[in-house]
Amino acid sequence: MASLTIRKLDEGVKTYLRLRSAKNRRSVEEEVRIILGELVEGREEPLTPFAIPSAVPTPQRAASVPEASVTLIIGGGIAAYKSLDLIRRLKERRIEVRCVLTKAAQQFVTPLAVSALSHERVYTDLFDPQSEFDAGHIRLARECDLVVVAPATADLLAKMAGGHADDLASAILLATNRKILLAPAMNPLMWNNAATRRNIGQLQRDGVVLIGPNSGEMAEAGEAGVGRMSEAIEIATAAERLLRPPVPRPLAGKRVLITAGPTHEPIDPVRYIANRSSGKQGFAIAAAAQAAGAEVILVSGPVDLGDPQGVTVKRVESARQMLEQVQAALPADIAIFAAAVADWRVANEGEQKLKKSSAGMPPLQLVENPDILATISRLADRRPPLVIGFAAETEHLIDNAKSKLARKGCDWIVANDVSPATGVMGGDRNTVHLISRGASEIAVDSWPVMTKEQVAIELVARIAKSVADKSREPAS
Ligand code: CTP
Repeated sequence: MASLTIRKLDEGVKTYLRLRSAKNRRSVEEEVRIILGELVEGREEPLTPFAIPSAVPTPQRAASVPEASVTLIIGGGIAAYKSLDLIRRLKERRIEVRCVLTKAAQQFVTPLAVSALSHERVYTDLFDPQSEFDAGHIRLARECDLVVVAPATADLLAKMAGGHADDLASAILLATNRKILLAPAMNPLMWNNAATRRNIGQLQRDGVVLIGPNSGEMAEAGEAGVGRMSEAIEIATAAERLLRPPVPRPLAGKRVLITAGPTHEPIDPVRYIANRSSGKQGFAIAAAAQAAGAEVILVSGPVDLGDPQGVTVKRVESARQMLEQVQAALPADIAIFAAAVADWRVANEGEQKLKKSSAGMPPLQLVENPDILATISRLADRRPPLVIGFAAETEHLIDNAKSKLARKGCDWIVANDVSPATGVMGGDRNTVHLISRGASEIAVDSWPVMTKEQVAIELVARIAKSVADKSREPAS
């Protein structure tokens, strides 16, 4: 395969590539790869007369594209050698790194080594005509997600605390509107000096984040104390935490069982009784509970929806099959019954397709289906600690929902108006009222109209709060 030397490209092309890559926060090489990829994908004629299956599955391919970028300022101290490892550690985490070396840093590491590791050009001068024509220091300060200073020398800290901007590094630190992570490194006496203490205090008040310094041996023979720069892996982990803060998972360790969709009750092998439920609300709740860290089992009637990621889905047809799968999925910490279960099934289900005959219409005998919600709510031993039902009503919404709460024996009811004018059945929005048993009375909380996804997120947030509140209650 041929390789491409960017340096040898036409000036106009180079400028275009530099601006485009800076805008997209990618290296120039990455940008060229993407442009070539787009060109190939956009071709009308096939590349080969046969289809080649993608060698790399899409998720892996996406994983190779950097998701975040850091401007790394390397200060002039002996710890600068660790910043070479830091570049590698950041890149391992799919974080793109653009490096700035102070004048003093170049005494410890060379721009060539830094550039070879970062696969980027290295920036050293505030007044560099090549980068300043498009305000290079402003781009380095803003076109990144985080600025890391490692090592952050006593001098750099002082400049930052005082708001100086007489070289590229300090100008970036003053011009940035991104979070700054500092990894100080200096002699213990300098670290403990009153001036450094003052500067550190000021920087912390300014919102700068510190990692280290650690305590240990100094480069100077026989000296030890606090002042060693944190290890590259510690700095990379701290940077990653700032770039990708951990997502709260309030339902981690909880098992959530959800029913969704309609049920189909067979009349004969080709006909069935059904309802208009789309399953969207139950599926959205399953996705929201999974995102909150729960283990989710979704028992769904026939719907046109794909499995939510990370959710175990059991597909069923009839109410009796749904009950069977729900019972098999117990125990659960939380059970949410969002399915529109058919109340009746045909008692005399035809084994063969019913035929028209002169005898008139076939008599369809209906029998009541098991009430899944009521059955689970009344379990003596395996009742989930929180059981939530839905109430689909077309009139007297709150009153009917309150009496359903009592009749079914559940803890909460999510009541919604499903009269045709609301468009709830099959639609994307929902207006719900959360009815729950308070200490002495039944509480009604009416939510504004929301998408079914928002309703799901709000419901999961309420569940998470209730779980947290219960865990704080003293054990009886
Ligand atoms: N439900 C159930 N099993 C049934 C019927 C209903 O689990 N056989 C559940 C639903 O999933 C919902 C709640 O009970 O969580 C209320 O369902 P809804 O259809 O509103 O009420 P019904 O009990 O069917 O009463 P009605 O049709 O008279 O309103």
